[in-house]
Amino acid sequence: MDLFEKLKELRQKGLDEIKKATDEEHLNEVRVELIGRKGELTKILHSMGDIAPEDRREVGQKVNELRDLFNKQLGESKDKIVAALIAQKMEEERVDVTLPGRRQKLGSKHPINIILDDLEAYFIGMGYQVVQGPEIETDHYVFEMMNLPKDHPARDMQATFYIDDENLLRSQTSGDQARVLEKHDFSKGPLKMVGPGKVYRRDDDDATHSHQFMQMEGLVIDKHVTMSDLKGTLEMIAKHIFGQDRETRLRPSYFPFTEPSVEMDVACFNCGGKGCAICKYTGWIEVLGAGMVHPNVLENAGVDSTVYGGFAFGVGLDRFAILKYGIDDIRDFYTNDIRFLDQFRKEED
Ligand code: PHE
Repeated sequence: MDLFEKLKELRQKGLDEIKKATDEEHLNEVRVELIGRKGELTKILHSMGDIAPEDRREVGQKVNELRDLFNKQLGESKDKIVAALIAQKMEEERVDVTLPGRRQKLGSKHPINIILDDLEAYFIGMGYQVVQGPEIETDHYVFEMMNLPKDHPARDMQATFYIDDENLLRSQTSGDQARVLEKHDFSKGPLKMVGPGKVYRRDDDDATHSHQFMQMEGLVIDKHVTMSDLKGTLEMIAKHIFGQDRETRLRPSYFPFTEPSVEMDVACFNCGGKGCAICKYTGWIEVLGAGMVHPNVLENAGVDSTVYGGFAFGVGLDRFAILKYGIDDIRDFYTNDIRFLDQFRKEED
Protein backbone atom coordinates (compact mmCIF):
# COMPACT_ATOMS: atom_id res chain seq x y z
CA MET A 1 0.00 0.00 0.00
CA ASP A 2 1.33 3.40 -0.75
CA LEU A 3 2.27 5.66 2.10
CA PHE A 4 -0.43 8.22 1.35
CA GLU A 5 -3.03 5.49 1.61
CA LYS A 6 -1.46 4.34 4.87
CA LEU A 7 -1.59 7.85 6.29
CA LYS A 8 -5.22 8.22 5.35
CA GLU A 9 -6.09 4.97 6.99
CA LEU A 10 -4.11 5.86 10.11
CA ARG A 11 -5.92 9.19 10.29
CA GLN A 12 -9.29 7.48 10.34
CA LYS A 13 -8.22 4.76 12.73
CA GLY A 14 -6.54 7.24 15.09
CA LEU A 15 -9.55 9.55 15.26
CA ASP A 16 -11.83 6.57 15.96
CA GLU A 17 -9.58 5.27 18.72
CA ILE A 18 -9.36 8.67 20.36
CA LYS A 19 -13.11 8.91 20.34
CA LYS A 20 -13.50 5.47 21.89
CA ALA A 21 -11.18 6.18 24.84
CA THR A 22 -13.36 7.13 27.81
CA ASP A 23 -10.81 7.32 30.60
CA GLU A 24 -7.39 8.89 30.99
CA GLU A 25 -5.50 5.63 31.11
CA HIS A 26 -7.00 4.34 27.92
CA LEU A 27 -6.46 7.70 26.21
CA ASN A 28 -2.81 7.58 27.17
CA GLU A 29 -2.43 4.14 25.61
CA VAL A 30 -3.93 5.50 22.39
CA ARG A 31 -1.53 8.46 22.45
CA VAL A 32 1.49 6.15 22.82
CA GLU A 33 0.23 3.94 20.02
CA LEU A 34 -0.32 6.85 17.63
CA ILE A 35 2.37 9.42 18.30
CA GLY A 36 4.68 7.76 20.83
CA ARG A 37 8.36 7.07 20.12
CA LYS A 38 7.51 3.62 18.85
CA GLY A 39 4.05 4.59 17.58
CA GLU A 40 2.50 4.37 14.15
CA LEU A 41 3.57 7.82 12.97
CA THR A 42 7.17 7.23 13.94
CA LYS A 43 7.12 3.97 12.02
CA ILE A 44 6.00 5.80 8.91
CA LEU A 45 8.74 8.40 9.35
CA HIS A 46 11.29 5.61 9.66
CA SER A 47 10.15 4.06 6.40
CA MET A 48 10.85 7.31 4.51
CA GLY A 49 13.98 5.75 3.07
CA ASP A 50 11.86 3.44 0.98
CA ILE A 51 10.00 6.11 -0.93
CA ALA A 52 10.90 8.23 -3.88
CA PRO A 53 12.88 11.31 -2.87
CA GLU A 54 10.40 13.69 -4.55
CA ASP A 55 7.60 12.37 -2.33
CA ARG A 56 9.45 12.70 0.90
CA ARG A 57 8.65 16.34 1.48
CA GLU A 58 4.93 15.80 1.09
CA VAL A 59 4.92 12.69 3.27
CA GLY A 60 6.84 14.57 5.95
CA GLN A 61 4.34 17.40 5.79
CA LYS A 62 1.39 15.02 6.05
CA VAL A 63 2.97 13.22 8.99
CA ASN A 64 3.39 16.54 10.81
CA GLU A 65 -0.16 17.58 10.05
CA LEU A 66 -1.46 14.28 11.32
CA ARG A 67 0.60 14.57 14.51
CA ASP A 68 -0.81 18.03 15.12
CA LEU A 69 -4.32 16.77 14.52
CA PHE A 70 -3.88 13.80 16.87
CA ASN A 71 -2.38 16.05 19.51
CA LYS A 72 -5.27 18.44 19.28
CA GLN A 73 -7.88 15.68 19.46
CA LEU A 74 -6.10 13.93 22.33
CA GLY A 75 -6.01 17.20 24.25
CA GLU A 76 -9.67 17.89 23.71
CA SER A 77 -10.60 14.35 24.71
CA LYS A 78 -8.55 14.63 27.85
CA ASP A 79 -10.24 17.90 28.81
CA LYS A 80 -13.62 16.28 28.34
CA ILE A 81 -12.72 13.27 30.47
CA VAL A 82 -11.39 15.45 33.30
CA ALA A 83 -14.45 17.70 33.17
CA ALA A 84 -16.74 14.66 33.36
CA LEU A 85 -14.81 13.31 36.32
CA ILE A 86 -15.10 16.59 38.20
CA ALA A 87 -18.81 16.81 37.42
CA GLN A 88 -19.32 13.28 38.73
CA LYS A 89 -17.40 13.99 41.90
CA MET A 90 -19.36 17.17 42.51
CA GLU A 91 -22.57 15.25 42.11
CA GLU A 92 -21.50 12.49 44.46
CA GLU A 93 -20.23 14.85 47.16
CA ARG A 94 -23.08 17.26 46.99
CA VAL A 95 -24.10 18.49 50.45
CA ASP A 96 -27.76 18.66 51.25
CA VAL A 97 -27.86 21.87 53.23
CA THR A 98 -31.49 21.27 54.14
CA LEU A 99 -30.63 18.21 56.29
CA PRO A 100 -30.74 18.85 60.07
CA GLY A 101 -27.28 19.00 61.69
CA ARG A 102 -25.90 16.35 64.02
CA ARG A 103 -26.00 17.59 67.59
CA GLN A 104 -22.83 17.22 69.64
CA LYS A 105 -23.77 16.08 73.12
CA LEU A 106 -22.00 18.21 75.70
CA GLY A 107 -21.25 16.99 79.18
CA SER A 108 -22.35 18.90 82.25
CA LYS A 109 -20.51 19.83 85.40
CA HIS A 110 -20.90 17.38 88.27
CA PRO A 111 -23.01 18.88 91.10
CA ILE A 112 -20.15 18.44 93.57
CA ASN A 113 -17.83 20.27 91.21
CA ILE A 114 -20.35 23.08 90.87
CA ILE A 115 -20.26 23.56 94.66
CA LEU A 116 -16.50 23.06 94.81
CA ASP A 117 -15.75 25.63 92.08
CA ASP A 118 -18.18 28.05 93.64
CA LEU A 119 -16.62 27.74 97.12
CA GLU A 120 -13.08 27.90 95.78
CA ALA A 121 -13.82 31.13 93.93
CA TYR A 122 -15.51 32.47 97.06
CA PHE A 123 -12.49 31.75 99.27
CA ILE A 124 -9.98 33.00 96.72
CA GLY A 125 -11.99 36.23 96.73
CA MET A 126 -11.36 36.47 100.48
CA GLY A 127 -7.61 35.99 100.06
CA TYR A 128 -7.34 32.25 100.80
CA GLN A 129 -4.84 30.08 98.94
CA VAL A 130 -6.02 26.75 97.52
CA VAL A 131 -3.85 23.71 98.27
CA GLN A 132 -4.17 20.08 97.29
CA GLY A 133 -2.72 17.35 99.47
CA PRO A 134 -2.13 13.73 98.43
CA GLU A 135 -4.97 11.18 98.59
CA ILE A 136 -2.53 8.49 99.62
CA GLU A 137 -1.32 10.14 102.80
CA THR A 138 0.79 9.19 105.76
CA ASP A 139 -0.29 8.39 109.28
CA HIS A 140 2.14 11.14 110.26
CA TYR A 141 0.19 13.98 108.58
CA VAL A 142 -3.37 12.69 108.88
CA PHE A 143 -3.09 11.71 112.56
CA GLU A 144 0.17 12.26 114.46
CA MET A 145 0.64 15.89 113.42
CA MET A 146 -3.06 16.52 114.06
CA ASN A 147 -2.74 15.66 117.75
CA LEU A 148 -3.83 12.04 117.32
CA PRO A 149 -0.93 9.90 118.48
CA LYS A 150 -1.11 6.16 117.87
CA ASP A 151 -3.70 4.45 120.12
CA HIS A 152 -5.62 7.72 120.58
CA PRO A 153 -9.26 6.61 120.99
CA ALA A 154 -10.50 9.31 118.60
CA ARG A 155 -8.83 7.47 115.73
CA ASP A 156 -11.89 5.24 115.79
CA MET A 157 -14.02 8.23 114.72
CA GLN A 158 -12.71 7.63 111.23
CA ALA A 159 -12.56 4.06 109.99
CA THR A 160 -9.41 4.37 107.92
CA PHE A 161 -8.18 2.27 105.00
CA TYR A 162 -4.55 1.49 105.81
CA ILE A 163 -2.13 0.49 103.07
CA ASP A 164 0.61 -0.39 105.55
CA ASP A 165 1.60 0.87 109.00
CA GLU A 166 2.51 4.32 107.75
CA ASN A 167 0.51 4.86 104.51
CA LEU A 168 -3.24 5.18 104.21
CA LEU A 169 -6.06 6.52 102.09
CA ARG A 170 -6.70 9.79 103.87
CA SER A 171 -9.88 9.70 105.93
CA GLN A 172 -9.89 13.50 106.24
CA THR A 173 -8.27 16.45 104.46
CA SER A 174 -6.97 17.74 107.81
CA GLY A 175 -3.45 16.55 106.96
CA ASP A 176 -3.34 19.54 104.60
CA GLN A 177 -3.36 21.78 107.69
CA ALA A 178 -0.12 20.27 108.97
CA ARG A 179 1.49 20.43 105.53
CA VAL A 180 0.86 24.16 105.06
CA LEU A 181 1.58 25.05 108.70
CA GLU A 182 5.04 23.49 108.41
CA LYS A 183 5.86 25.59 105.36
CA HIS A 184 4.17 28.90 106.07
CA ASP A 185 6.38 31.92 106.63
CA PHE A 186 4.42 34.08 109.11
CA SER A 187 6.72 37.05 108.57
CA LYS A 188 5.01 37.36 105.18
CA GLY A 189 1.50 37.54 106.67
CA PRO A 190 -1.33 35.36 108.01
CA LEU A 191 -2.08 31.88 106.76
CA LYS A 192 -5.43 31.42 105.01
CA MET A 193 -5.99 28.29 103.00
CA VAL A 194 -8.61 25.87 101.75
CA GLY A 195 -7.78 22.32 100.69
CA PRO A 196 -10.47 20.46 98.77
CA GLY A 197 -10.23 16.79 97.84
CA LYS A 198 -11.37 13.19 98.07
CA VAL A 199 -11.37 11.27 101.33
CA TYR A 200 -12.01 7.60 102.09
CA ARG A 201 -13.57 5.73 105.00
CA ARG A 202 -14.48 2.13 105.70
CA ASP A 203 -18.21 2.71 105.53
CA ASP A 204 -20.90 0.55 103.96
CA ASP A 205 -22.43 2.53 101.10
CA ASP A 206 -26.08 3.45 101.53
CA ALA A 207 -28.29 6.48 100.88
CA THR A 208 -26.36 8.67 103.33
CA HIS A 209 -22.91 7.02 103.51
CA SER A 210 -20.18 6.50 101.00
CA HIS A 211 -16.70 4.98 101.29
CA GLN A 212 -15.42 7.92 99.26
CA PHE A 213 -16.56 11.53 99.49
CA MET A 214 -15.35 15.08 99.19
CA GLN A 215 -14.15 17.47 101.87
CA MET A 216 -12.82 20.98 101.88
CA GLU A 217 -10.40 21.78 104.65
CA GLY A 218 -10.03 25.37 105.80
CA LEU A 219 -7.38 26.97 108.00
CA VAL A 220 -6.82 30.54 109.16
CA ILE A 221 -3.88 31.34 111.46
CA ASP A 222 -2.80 34.78 112.56
CA LYS A 223 -2.11 36.73 115.74
CA HIS A 224 -5.59 37.64 116.95
CA VAL A 225 -8.10 35.22 115.43
CA THR A 226 -11.15 34.58 117.58
CA MET A 227 -14.05 32.18 117.79
CA SER A 228 -16.35 34.89 116.44
CA ASP A 229 -14.20 35.07 113.28
CA LEU A 230 -14.86 31.36 112.86
CA LYS A 231 -18.57 31.78 113.47
CA GLY A 232 -18.81 34.64 111.00
CA THR A 233 -16.89 32.70 108.36
CA LEU A 234 -19.09 29.61 108.73
CA GLU A 235 -22.27 31.66 108.54
CA MET A 236 -21.04 33.41 105.43
CA ILE A 237 -20.29 30.12 103.71
CA ALA A 238 -23.73 28.75 104.59
CA LYS A 239 -25.50 31.88 103.37
CA HIS A 240 -23.43 31.93 100.19
CA ILE A 241 -24.37 28.37 99.31
CA PHE A 242 -27.91 28.06 100.69
CA GLY A 243 -29.18 31.64 100.57
CA GLN A 244 -29.99 34.11 103.33
CA ASP A 245 -33.04 32.28 104.66
CA ARG A 246 -31.79 28.76 105.32
CA GLU A 247 -31.38 28.21 109.06
CA THR A 248 -28.09 26.96 110.50
CA ARG A 249 -26.90 26.13 114.00
CA LEU A 250 -23.62 25.40 115.74
CA ARG A 251 -23.34 22.54 118.23
CA PRO A 252 -20.46 21.84 120.58
CA SER A 253 -18.46 18.85 119.42
CA TYR A 254 -15.11 17.16 119.79
CA PHE A 255 -12.13 16.90 117.46
CA PRO A 256 -8.60 16.20 118.74
CA PHE A 257 -7.16 18.99 116.58
CA THR A 258 -9.50 21.79 117.69
CA GLU A 259 -10.47 23.15 121.11
CA PRO A 260 -13.21 24.21 121.45
CA SER A 261 -14.84 22.26 118.63
CA VAL A 262 -18.18 22.73 116.92
CA GLU A 263 -20.31 21.17 114.23
CA MET A 264 -22.61 23.11 111.95
CA ASP A 265 -26.02 21.81 110.98
CA VAL A 266 -28.27 23.13 108.23
CA ALA A 267 -32.08 22.82 108.34
CA CYS A 268 -33.19 19.72 106.43
CA PHE A 269 -34.10 20.48 102.80
CA ASN A 270 -36.78 17.84 102.83
CA CYS A 271 -38.89 18.61 105.90
CA GLY A 272 -37.70 22.16 106.56
CA GLY A 273 -36.88 21.25 110.15
CA LYS A 274 -39.93 19.24 111.16
CA GLY A 275 -38.13 15.91 111.09
CA CYS A 276 -38.11 13.15 108.46
CA ALA A 277 -36.24 10.00 107.48
CA ILE A 278 -33.53 11.95 105.64
CA CYS A 279 -32.54 14.01 108.72
CA LYS A 280 -33.20 11.03 110.99
CA TYR A 281 -36.10 12.97 112.56
CA THR A 282 -33.85 15.70 113.94
CA GLY A 283 -34.76 18.43 111.42
CA TRP A 284 -31.03 19.12 110.86
CA ILE A 285 -28.27 17.81 108.63
CA GLU A 286 -24.65 18.09 109.73
CA VAL A 287 -22.43 19.75 107.10
CA LEU A 288 -19.11 20.55 108.70
CA GLY A 289 -16.81 20.23 111.68
CA ALA A 290 -14.74 23.15 112.93
CA GLY A 291 -13.04 24.73 115.89
CA MET A 292 -10.13 26.76 117.23
CA VAL A 293 -6.86 25.07 116.27
CA HIS A 294 -5.38 23.07 119.17
CA PRO A 295 -2.02 24.47 120.38
CA ASN A 296 -0.44 21.01 119.92
CA VAL A 297 -1.19 21.15 116.17
CA LEU A 298 0.65 24.48 115.92
CA GLU A 299 3.58 23.35 118.06
CA ASN A 300 3.91 20.04 116.13
CA ALA A 301 4.41 22.13 112.98
CA GLY A 302 6.91 24.45 114.66
CA VAL A 303 4.54 27.41 115.09
CA ASP A 304 4.62 29.28 118.41
CA SER A 305 1.16 28.73 119.87
CA THR A 306 1.63 31.53 122.38
CA VAL A 307 1.82 34.03 119.52
CA TYR A 308 -0.28 32.47 116.75
CA GLY A 309 -3.69 30.87 116.75
CA GLY A 310 -6.74 30.52 114.60
CA PHE A 311 -9.53 28.32 113.38
CA ALA A 312 -10.01 25.33 111.09
CA PHE A 313 -13.00 23.75 109.45
CA GLY A 314 -13.75 20.69 107.34
CA VAL A 315 -16.71 20.99 104.98
CA GLY A 316 -18.53 17.91 103.69
CA LEU A 317 -19.04 18.89 100.06
CA ASP A 318 -21.41 15.99 99.38
CA ARG A 319 -23.60 17.16 102.25
CA PHE A 320 -23.59 20.68 100.83
CA ALA A 321 -24.67 19.35 97.46
CA ILE A 322 -27.40 17.15 98.98
CA LEU A 323 -28.84 20.10 100.84
CA LYS A 324 -28.55 22.55 98.00
CA TYR A 325 -30.10 20.34 95.35
CA GLY A 326 -32.42 18.23 97.47
CA ILE A 327 -30.75 14.93 96.61
CA ASP A 328 -31.94 12.02 98.73
CA ASP A 329 -29.37 9.39 97.82
CA ILE A 330 -25.64 10.12 98.07
CA ARG A 331 -24.89 7.20 95.73
CA ASP A 332 -26.28 9.25 92.82
CA PHE A 333 -23.06 11.30 92.96
CA TYR A 334 -20.87 8.31 92.21
CA THR A 335 -22.89 6.08 89.91
CA ASN A 336 -22.73 8.64 87.10
CA ASP A 337 -26.16 8.10 85.61
CA ILE A 338 -26.29 10.55 82.69
CA ARG A 339 -29.93 11.37 83.46
CA PHE A 340 -28.97 12.45 86.97
CA LEU A 341 -26.00 14.51 85.78
CA ASP A 342 -27.98 16.10 82.94
CA GLN A 343 -30.19 17.91 85.44
CA PHE A 344 -27.29 20.15 86.42
CA ARG A 345 -26.62 21.43 82.91
CA LYS A 346 -28.34 24.76 83.60
CA GLU A 347 -26.12 25.56 86.55
CA GLU A 348 -23.18 26.01 84.24
CA ASP A 349 -24.76 28.58 81.95
N1 PHE B 1 -11.54 16.51 109.83
C1 PHE B 1 -12.82 16.55 110.47
C2 PHE B 1 -13.68 15.40 109.93
O1 PHE B 1 -13.34 14.86 108.92
C3 PHE B 1 -13.52 17.86 110.23
C4 PHE B 1 -12.80 19.01 110.84
C5 PHE B 1 -11.86 19.73 110.14
C6 PHE B 1 -13.09 19.40 112.18
C7 PHE B 1 -11.22 20.80 110.70
C8 PHE B 1 -12.45 20.48 112.73
C9 PHE B 1 -11.52 21.18 112.01
O2 PHE B 1 -14.67 15.04 110.53
